[in-house]
Amino acid sequence: MIEKIKRLKEEKDVVILAHYYVDGEVQKIADLVGDSYFLAKKAVEVPQKNILFCGVSFMGESAKILNPGKRVIMADEYADCPMAHMADIDRIQKVREQYPDVAVVCYVNSTAELKAYSDVCVTSSNAVRVVDKLPSKHIFFIPDENLGRFVAEKLPEKEFIFNDGFCHVHTSIHKEELLKAKEAHPEAEVLTHPECTGDVLAISDFIGSTSEIIDYATKSGKAEFIICTEMGVFFELEQKNPGKKFYSVGHRQFCPNMKKITLEKVLHALETLEPELTLDEKLRVKANKPLSKMLELAG
Ligand code: 13P
Ligand code: SF4
Repeated sequence: MIEKIKRLKEEKDVVILAHYYVDGEVQKIADLVGDSYFLAKKAVEVPQKNILFCGVSFMGESAKILNPGKRVIMADEYADCPMAHMADIDRIQKVREQYPDVAVVCYVNSTAELKAYSDVCVTSSNAVRVVDKLPSKHIFFIPDENLGRFVAEKLPEKEFIFNDGFCHVHTSIHKEELLKAKEAHPEAEVLTHPECTGDVLAISDFIGSTSEIIDYATKSGKAEFIICTEMGVFFELEQKNPGKKFYSVGHRQFCPNMKKITLEKVLHALETLEPELTLDEKLRVKANKPLSKMLELAG
């Protein structure tokens, strides 16, 4: 299967992009693996005509929004991030009426529709940097409340309005369980994704995106780490750091949507160049503005 995948991607001019949360065996056959920001940037740079996305819908949508001329194929068209839908357009309009100067900042984990009603997108690795560059005092942060509160804490001069979206994977990492893991591994550093709740962030040593967590652990002189994000990152963490130990906090660090991607589905997508991700052109153009603005401001 791996040989067939390698041959077909060359023959059909396909680049395979994968997120760190997909299974290790899928990460292994991908051309590029990364966090959401890296994948959005790479989607613009790759020379191939076709992009095969191993990740959830919003990631494929971002690739299509930024590259209308390319064919974007999803390894699984039903792999969707529930948080991407957790904001609503009526509320955005109401907040805009209430605060005329407001900047609507949309976490990239969002539908193309939500992006189309926003001013700028952010990912977990560039959110503080991008929001800091916005002239508006009022920031309406959608859809993730936890990432919004993390950014707000770093930028006290801004006034944030929050939305109640959340990631069910990260919010199921509880402080009590993390305290037990710390007790069991007193030497370990705690590395956490900002989608976790504030009480978990407060007892963490480092907070960052998936790529930033992997970089931090790789550069650190420590030998043990407790990882507060989806278990898919363990593959790259262990590949890059054979001598180091990585512990999870509980068994719920598992994104069922990311785990829908299998080698069989990748092969099928390469054979058929389906399912293709398509977007209404008017929607694509509107959603392109905040995404492109993110790339410009994040640098
Ligand atoms: P990153 O941007 O850190 O890769 O996170 C994506 C994501 O879905 C987190 O749950
Ligand atoms: Fe969405 Fe959470 Fe899965 Fe990331 S881990 S894709 S935010 S459900």
